[in-house]
Amino acid sequence: MSFQHLTRRSLLGRSAVGILTLAFGSRGTSSRVWSADPDVSADLITRQASPFNAEPPLDRLIEKWITPVNSFFVRSHGDVPELDVKDFTLTVDGLVDKPLTLKLADLVERFPSVGTTATLTCAGNRRSEFAAVKKVGGVQWDAGAIGNAEWQGVRLTDVLKAAGVKAEAKHVWFEGRDQVTEKNVTFPFGGSIPLEKGLATAATGTTLLATQMNGQPLTPSHGFPLRTVVPGYIGARSVKWLHKITVADRPSPNHFVADVYKLVPEENADLIARTAPIYEFTLNSAICVPSAGAAVSGDRLTVKGFALTNGTTGRSVQQIEVSADGGQTWSAAKVTSPLRDYCWVLWSADVALTDKSDSLIVRATDTSGEVQPQICPWNYKGYQFNGWHKVGLKRS
Ligand code: MTE
Repeated sequence: MSFQHLTRRSLLGRSAVGILTLAFGSRGTSSRVWSADPDVSADLITRQASPFNAEPPLDRLIEKWITPVNSFFVRSHGDVPELDVKDFTLTVDGLVDKPLTLKLADLVERFPSVGTTATLTCAGNRRSEFAAVKKVGGVQWDAGAIGNAEWQGVRLTDVLKAAGVKAEAKHVWFEGRDQVTEKNVTFPFGGSIPLEKGLATAATGTTLLATQMNGQPLTPSHGFPLRTVVPGYIGARSVKWLHKITVADRPSPNHFVADVYKLVPEENADLIARTAPIYEFTLNSAICVPSAGAAVSGDRLTVKGFALTNGTTGRSVQQIEVSADGGQTWSAAKVTSPLRDYCWVLWSADVALTDKSDSLIVRATDTSGEVQPQICPWNYKGYQFNGWHKVGLKRS
């Protein structure tokens, strides 16, 4: 069934068990099979076995503008929760006139079905490159913790309107059904976004409560049965296994908003408390073909990769440039994919090599004039690495 045809009616036409079976196959609700999960391709590179965190090899990553589910990175802080969709409810509470408790079928029945294409990227993407200055803790991502998908669901703004947001509201909190254990304390994963982002209605920028990814129900690893998708924001705000929305006058106190996803130079509790959470993702680009260390011959080479603008509304990629001489001269790359708000672009460049070309470098510029920095300032938690991406070459 195509993306366009998997509509509210067709989803509703299935019983809850049917939806569950479609997503889980014969494994029912109790599957906890990580790398054998059918949505997780054997080709993903496991960065952490449990909880499962994995990214695709970079050449695979850029084969398609819409990333197939089985090569979409997985970033989970806890194990995939065991859910029975029959009992699954979404609650909406906090600063609202009418708190709501919605079964999945109510949600799909009551609100219009909306689709959007958006890129998700982990704030920790490219974290392993901080090691050139000083290694940071956490999952050591290469540049593959990113993917672009077609999401289908209902608009957060429609659900908030139905609940009636009170005048003093400023933020929307999300909570997942998974449990994360850190330092012997167990708690749910949570996210938070400013209310105006939650109310956005632009076709490309609206925050979704998504039930489908690339025309199929979400898979367990990607948040079945419901997740938020917040275009332009770091992946951490797109909360999987969503079961609770709270409208509030401040950002969520959840550990992953209050402490974790922040740019700080050291582990200092006061400083962390005073630092704003990261929301928008950052301007970035990477070379995916050839791969690092590839042997190349001849005097010309086709180089390919992805680029992404800062997730602030209204920006798009202006220019992507590749250098084969350490940044002294640059060749312009061509965009080879659609250019859409809040989505990555794929690019290709035909680059001249000399005998001395021992590396390739890429940098992107966006329409606000922001240029990717040559060197990304180090930060303690290893987020938003966006220095010029460099791959070494072997001349043969
Ligand atoms: N939601 C829940 N409930 N638990 C999580 O661990 N990880 C977040 C976000 N939503 C997470 C979550 C992070 S850090 C990222 S980058 C994205 O999910 C990754 O989404 P994906 O695994 O579908 O690629």
